[in-house]
Amino acid sequence: MIERTLAILKPDCVRKNLIGEVTTRIEKAGFKILALKKVRLTKESAGGFYAVHKGRPFYDGLVEFMSSGPCVPIALEKENAVAEFRALIGATDPKDAAPGTIRKLYADNKGENIVHGSDSPDNGKIEINFFFSSKELIDAQ
Ligand code: RTP
Ligand code: MG
Repeated sequence: MIERTLAILKPDCVRKNLIGEVTTRIEKAGFKILALKKVRLTKESAGGFYAVHKGRPFYDGLVEFMSSGPCVPIALEKENAVAEFRALIGATDPKDAAPGTIRKLYADNKGENIVHGSDSPDNGKIEINFFFSSKELIDAQ
């Protein structure tokens, strides 16, 4: 089934000048880009985006990190997009990520791990709507 998922190139990806390299890997893996932009999240909006993790020991650090600089949300479409995107990026902790995955290649640690990927098709829709209006989502060619 054709699905949508939300990627975010996190602030470490932007700081390392890896927007192009990571986006190239995403496109080469067959994902179509519906929308893409650069934004700077406030602490409040980063906290809202990751509200599901509120109360976890890493939450405050995650909010701090996600609001520490600009990031690049990208709405993506592909067959089986959610699972395929998570396979492309690898495990949360780059130490555990499979060789050749984006986090294995570029991430420094579990907290600063280059890229976000939605964890279900329903959350993919919710997360895409968090960043993009329906007018901004341009159908894949
Ligand atoms: P994401 O939501 O960003 O795609 O990452 P994920 O599904 O692989 O991992 P998740 O459990 O949803 O955690 C969200 C983000 O929180 C940070 N984190 N740090 N230091 C830690 O133990 C820890 N655990 C999670 C990471 O930035 C992770 O991607
Ligand atoms: Mg997650």
